[in-house]
Amino acid sequence: MVADRTESEKAYLLDAIDAFNRRIFIVSPDYKILAANDTAIQGNSRDLVGRSCHEALFGRKQPCATCPADEVMRTGKSSLRYDHWNDSRDFDETMCLFSYPIYKGDKVEALVMLDFDLPALKNMEEKRLQSNAFLRNLLHSAVDAVIASDPSGRILIFNEAAEQILGYAVEEALNEITIRDVYPGDGAREVMRMLLSEAYGGVGKLKGYHINGQHKNGDLIPISLNASIVYDANGNKVATIGFFHDRRDEIRMQKELENTQVQLLQAEKMASLGKMAAGVAHQLNNPLGGIILYTKLVMDEYDLPEEATADLTRVLEDAERAKETVKELLEFARQTDQEMKPQDINEIISRTIFLLENQSIFHNIKIEKALAESLPPISGDAQQLNHVFMNIILNGADALEGNGVLSIKTWHAAEKNRICIEISDTGPGIPDDVLPHIFEPFYTTKEQGKGTGLGLSMVYGILESHGGTIRAESKGGEGTLFHIELPVMEQTRKDEKIG
Ligand SMILES: Nc1ncnc2c1ncn2[C@@H]1O[C@H](COP(=O)(O)OP(=O)(O)OP(=O)(O)O)[C@@H](O)[C@H]1O
Ligand SMILES: [Mg+2]
Repeated sequence: MVADRTESEKAYLLDAIDAFNRRIFIVSPDYKILAANDTAIQGNSRDLVGRSCHEALFGRKQPCATCPADEVMRTGKSSLRYDHWNDSRDFDETMCLFSYPIYKGDKVEALVMLDFDLPALKNMEEKRLQSNAFLRNLLHSAVDAVIASDPSGRILIFNEAAEQILGYAVEEALNEITIRDVYPGDGAREVMRMLLSEAYGGVGKLKGYHINGQHKNGDLIPISLNASIVYDANGNKVATIGFFHDRRDEIRMQKELENTQVQLLQAEKMASLGKMAAGVAHQLNNPLGGIILYTKLVMDEYDLPEEATADLTRVLEDAERAKETVKELLEFARQTDQEMKPQDINEIISRTIFLLENQSIFHNIKIEKALAESLPPISGDAQQLNHVFMNIILNGADALEGNGVLSIKTWHAAEKNRICIEISDTGPGIPDDVLPHIFEPFYTTKEQGKGTGLGLSMVYGILESHGGTIRAESKGGEGTLFHIELPVMEQTRKDEKIG
């Protein structure tokens, strides 16, 4: 007896046992019925008490073959028998019998027999199975990948999305790999460390963590992971479960967005600077023309002392230089007239190289040409395009400081119908902090007087006006590569002359 009870408590307990709508018998170890509740008595005669249960309930002379009492006596533990009533004509076949011991000290003094409604139990079991199947379906058809593993790392759940992202079949994942194969290197341990820490969404939880998963073929897949620890009713860790999705599309889109933003910003900057440059150039053009004209007039019409002529010649030279800069500015702002004609890019490049290669700066520079055999024409202004290649090649020569290799390659990218040109050098490359600025007007890293910083911005402007693009790639110490693309001219007539 666990507790001392008052008489009224005992009376309530007795009432409760009688009110209980299942049959309850108390039976001695030698099968004598010691007591029975009201429900048990209702289905039988009142003189149950004192008789053997097999005789009183089943009309048998011997104890039933499936009697749970023997097992309870032997093990000292409760027992559930589904089949006990099955051969009985007196009892409903669907009943089962639950039997458990009543101890006096450490000896079993009697047994409680309690019948159960099997269909009700069965129903519960079916509902449990159904709900398990529903949960399984839910996990398997989830959009997110789901992987659960036990504390040793063995994989317990691996759904279809996980199959798709990581390339393992479910069977393979459950039997042949562990969670350590899913998160390469120290990944699995790192996830566990964070799960156990306060700092990442609370102990036992991890939210939106970016980590690499490893595909069956070895590829690393960037994923975003939500994970948690699964505890049992006693608070023991039984599993970890992770929900994750592939971030590759997300990363690609983000990159594209960033590129577009950079291009937009660049285009905007170029447009406003272009306008400003054009305005300033126009303002300067007229007074410069006046200075040049009147200086020439003075020099022609007056008999000037030699020194004055020398000074005026300086004035004239400087004014001419200023006019040249204005011209460049106007070109940069595309205020000069463009003459668009069908052009062969290979020819333009060859002409540019021919002009440059005899200059002293190119003497120790090896120029490697890999020009496509025949290229479809593009529509362009020969002089401006000449300017483009001249600027890029001169920049390359500057970077090589007279020594190294300059490579020029052209080809036709048929799938996008564009002419591609790559110009690379084996120079020192462009540092990461310089690279984003090289197309900006007046941006130069060269010492004062050596570079105006207008070269590449002009290149950019000219290519843009030809419907083309340019980008630079450079890894520190590994040289620089400029990739240019220009659209192939639409509907070229056969008889149209190129050049
Ligand atoms: N091939 C290259 N290797 C290394 N750096 C380069 C290369 N091409 C360009 N650059 C960098 O880009 C900057 C801008 O080039 P850009 O041609 O616009 O101006 P610049 O050459 O300095 O002057 P200029 O107006 O006389 O051409 C250069 O100052 C240099 O720092
Ligand atoms: Mg330059």
